[in-house]
Amino acid sequence: MDEILIVDYGSQYTRLLARRIREIGVYSRVESPKNPTLNENTKGIILSGGPLSVYSPSALGLPKNIKDSSLPMLGICYGMQLLVHELGGEVRKGETFEYGLTRVNFSSDPLFSGVKSPNTWMSHGDSVEKLPPNFVKIAESEMGVIAGIRSKDGKIYGLQFHPEVSQTVDGMKMIENFVLNLCEAKQTWKMEDYALLKIEEIKEKVGNSKVIAAVSGGVDSTVATVLTAKAVGKNLKCVFVNHGLLRKEDEEVPNILLQLGIEVKVVDASKRFFEELKGVTDPEKKRKIIGETFIRVFEEEAKKIDADFLLQGTIYSDVIESAAASDTSSKIKSHHNVGGLPKDMNLKLVEPLRELFKDEVRELGKVLQIPERILNRHPFPGPGLAIRIIGEVDPERAEILKKVDEIYTSILKESGEYDKIWQAFSVLLPIRSVGVKGDQRAYGYVVALRAVDSFEGMTASWHEMPNALLRKISSTITDKVPSVGRVVYDVSDKPPATIEWE
Ligand code: XMP
Repeated sequence: MDEILIVDYGSQYTRLLARRIREIGVYSRVESPKNPTLNENTKGIILSGGPLSVYSPSALGLPKNIKDSSLPMLGICYGMQLLVHELGGEVRKGETFEYGLTRVNFSSDPLFSGVKSPNTWMSHGDSVEKLPPNFVKIAESEMGVIAGIRSKDGKIYGLQFHPEVSQTVDGMKMIENFVLNLCEAKQTWKMEDYALLKIEEIKEKVGNSKVIAAVSGGVDSTVATVLTAKAVGKNLKCVFVNHGLLRKEDEEVPNILLQLGIEVKVVDASKRFFEELKGVTDPEKKRKIIGETFIRVFEEEAKKIDADFLLQGTIYSDVIESAAASDTSSKIKSHHNVGGLPKDMNLKLVEPLRELFKDEVRELGKVLQIPERILNRHPFPGPGLAIRIIGEVDPERAEILKKVDEIYTSILKESGEYDKIWQAFSVLLPIRSVGVKGDQRAYGYVVALRAVDSFEGMTASWHEMPNALLRKISSTITDKVPSVGRVVYDVSDKPPATIEWE
């Protein structure tokens, strides 16, 4: 299988770039600049962007095997500056900054074949001052900054902007031109191959040890579990921890998995979780407590079966939002299967979906023949309803939210709206409001309904729900859950809000 090697200098877009190449049907491998390997299937090399300047003392250079290689090479942002710096040109330290949408004039060049829009996405301080010998300029920004270079033999390219982000309108065309025309990589990559590759990787990592799987019934943990079961067979032991903060539909998960031939041990740890969460209102503390308690429960279960590894369904958006993707990305919140892990954990992690985006996980699930009704479930966060009960979490409030959520979800499913929405859920607010019921004053809880459209959860826009449906949901909730007196609909996008409230 032909492949493109991406040397990762720490850009927040590296995995997106890898994904773009997979979209074209070509396998891409991401490696650190410390020790990147080339093999007979490598058809081209991309040097990613990165947060540092080439003049920074900790900046990583061009590895010798990459520098000596005669494969087609493309440097993006930092990657281009590094090429210039190492090949005899000159990089100027940040004087002209270009951030965001930038118009670029493109010369006629094989890399830009079919490119029509001048719009690109820039994010740089340093810029190219002088080209290396035997290089030509092929693009320039409106501010006169060099935006694209090529070696005269056509083997080495550099772009100052990011072709992999959607704001660079014809960026995908450029990536295609590089991968398919300049590298001549064959479009032989399929999700089936990825599944086989991952199964082999898991086998190699785990050997004959036992793996304990944290199943939640969500798309990610189910796909990770079925994949790992194919790699290690009976050495995979699945545990479903009920932390008391699950929706009704999650409690049916062990049965659903059994239908897929996967046996699950149910551990009811709800008392322990509610105890730990008593008096805690801070969202980050809640996340940390749940993450840690989860792991402790798993460790205890793992000891019983002598497991060395813990399987988690972590996907790429969990990694990036917890700032684990690179040392310099900013932390938004601690997703419980990444940022909330205690430092002294005794289990080694298996995370086969760590580089995939949500829609790719669903595609992998299809390859593994997991039923669509599981794959099409909306995402549900590890900390569960705890981060949807604003303020202190207790069993009574959890019960109220469970009832509300069941009504909301079932009406969405009945009406067919569920499949048009990326994620929908309800949030119990820590306030009460005055109402009137049967001519009497009422003083009930307020719930917020949230529904968003999104591609992979990194950005989202609120879903334009039909009014009649909202009315039906609202009145059914207040009719059937007497302690709720008011229902509001959240009309916030991400950014500036996040999808979850905490
Ligand atoms: P936010 O709230 O960060 O959510 O916009 C983005 C997506 O991630 C889900 N989410 C989580 N998933 N563990 C998870 O497995 C977590 O701790 C977690 N927090 C948020 C969220 O439901 C949305 O789909």
